[in-house]
Amino acid sequence: MSFIPLAIPNTGEREARNLQACIETNFVSSVGAFVNEFEERIAALSGTASGVAMGAGTQALHISLLASDIGQGDLVILPSFTFIASANAISHAGATPWLMDIERDSWTLDPGQVREALESQTERRSGVLRHKATGMRVAAIMPVYTLGTPASMKAINEIAKEYGLLVIADAAAAIGVSYQEQPIGAVADLTCYSFNGNKTITCGGGGMIVGSDEQLMGRARHLSTTARATANYEHDMVGYNYRMTNVQAAIGCAQLDRLDDFLTAKRKIRDAYREAFEGQSGVELFPEPEDRTSTCWFSGLILDSQERVSMVCSELREQSIEARPFWMPVHQQAPYRRALSEAMPTTEELWSRIVTLPCSTSLDAADQQRVIEAVRAAIK
Ligand SMILES: Cc1ncc(COP(=O)(O)O)c(C=O)c1O
Repeated sequence: MSFIPLAIPNTGEREARNLQACIETNFVSSVGAFVNEFEERIAALSGTASGVAMGAGTQALHISLLASDIGQGDLVILPSFTFIASANAISHAGATPWLMDIERDSWTLDPGQVREALESQTERRSGVLRHKATGMRVAAIMPVYTLGTPASMKAINEIAKEYGLLVIADAAAAIGVSYQEQPIGAVADLTCYSFNGNKTITCGGGGMIVGSDEQLMGRARHLSTTARATANYEHDMVGYNYRMTNVQAAIGCAQLDRLDDFLTAKRKIRDAYREAFEGQSGVELFPEPEDRTSTCWFSGLILDSQERVSMVCSELREQSIEARPFWMPVHQQAPYRRALSEAMPTTEELWSRIVTLPCSTSLDAADQQRVIEAVRAAIK
């Protein structure tokens, strides 16, 4: 019985051709035509003026914060239901995460709770928005585009405007989607992607910030390339060696050529699971808000208990099929157990009941049917 993995890269001849070009031209390091092409194409796709490519999505988030002058003594609001890298990037910048709940129908940051928390727990002191209990400055909101689906950006941007907060979006898995008909780069100050191996398109590893504020983007580029002031080893800040290499971008450009096919494949996989399990008792489907598109990064089901999820995962494993739970919330992770957090009713009732199912863009219909039948048998 062949093994069906959860979510693996899909590389082939195009990627091989571009990699060969890197070797032939000897542009294998942090300068090269593919890096520039990749930045320009991703920025255009995102509806932004520019992009700055880096070695990882976590680095993109880290540099976004630093470029925005966010650090020690600052709070950044984000959902607890995210991959730990979102919170880690805030910690790497020296700032402090302020964890909040998600909306049930999008699995993204709950703007209602954000507003309520800001209203009741902050005040302006000498023009600076401060969290009353800790005295910290509230600096930014970091919505996370869970499953490649944008957060409720209209409401989030209204709050950000009202309170003078920056919006730095963790769009790790959301390449190519739109929110209320706008490309996602247009609905946040800075937007960060990841191109690690399980994302819709991969560079092997990689990340990018896209945005249209020239000053912010210039600072991001400068900070991520060791803050080099001149070609003669002069540096004017403590910078970071985060630049994406031409080899990574070569893979990324080839993947970008195939993005439409990948998005179609992901959607088809999501729809097939939906069709197979819609209406089944004890099973709920992943959310699909109507005013935004999604990469359908992961597919899967919501079951009625964590035990059920474990049982399905182990029964599928016996049939050589990989299935896994999804993100454990940040406020339950060891480094963040004492982090500043709001009530998490939705996150807590939801996270442990999610099972993610195979959804690689290379998954064929016969293998998906094998998965469906195995799940059916396991939840009977
Ligand atoms: C929501 C989210 N944020 C951040 C990251 C970090 O990206 P990377 O692994 O490229 O550092 C990921 C993925 O790994 C992610 O899913």
